[in-house]
Amino acid sequence: MNIHNSDIAASAVKKEQYPKKELPEFAFAGRSNVGKSSLVNKLLGRKSLARVSATPGKTATINFYNIDNTIYLVDLPGYGYAKRSRDEIEAWGGMIEEYLKNRKGLKRVILLVDSRHEPTTDDKMMLEWIRAYRPEDGAIVIATKCDKLKKRELADNLEMLERELELGENDILVPFSTKDDEGKFTVWDMINMMLI
Ligand code: GTP
Ligand code: MG
Repeated sequence: MNIHNSDIAASAVKKEQYPKKELPEFAFAGRSNVGKSSLVNKLLGRKSLARVSATPGKTATINFYNIDNTIYLVDLPGYGYAKRSRDEIEAWGGMIEEYLKNRKGLKRVILLVDSRHEPTTDDKMMLEWIRAYRPEDGAIVIATKCDKLKKRELADNLEMLERELELGENDILVPFSTKDDEGKFTVWDMINMMLI
């Protein structure tokens, strides 16, 4: 995709705040600090459209980015952030559930996991949600921060992730890093395929 214009369309905590216009939409989910906002910036070739932070819990709202009036990319708030209260965790769950249930244009929720670590219980739960939401679709999982691993370690970890997340023939696991363009091209290819 040749991007001309990308801008934030809405920053929402409830459905009344979602963009009114309906476009095909792709959302990125994953634990706090996994690199969701960084991935959105990388895909858009923008340094800091989505706010990024080394401290987990940066994105607290559902952020919709309008890409050339053609699609939305949606940066979801992360889970698994230890310093959140029970009330905040409940609010997060409600916000995500409302989003998944109400967005008609939503084509896919793509799960991000850290390529360096075993998936957490929350990662597995999120993947279950994604699968339950669209049982007919294969899951798309992106393994982030691949630049932090040696080639061999990365190969081992990708295998481990496939096994731990029980990825099958219809599922896709994409290695990703903000430090090069390979993952970015693969993700755009997938998005373009899903638009056909
Ligand atoms: P929340 O908003 O808290 O849910 O986090 P997030 O998933 O949006 O993470 P964010 O994009 O803010 O990135 C967290 C940290 O990881 C930042 O310090 C980023 O610079 C770093 N980071 C993200 N992606 C990569 C990557 O591919 N490689 C490296 N080395 N660092 C990365
Ligand atoms: Mg973020």
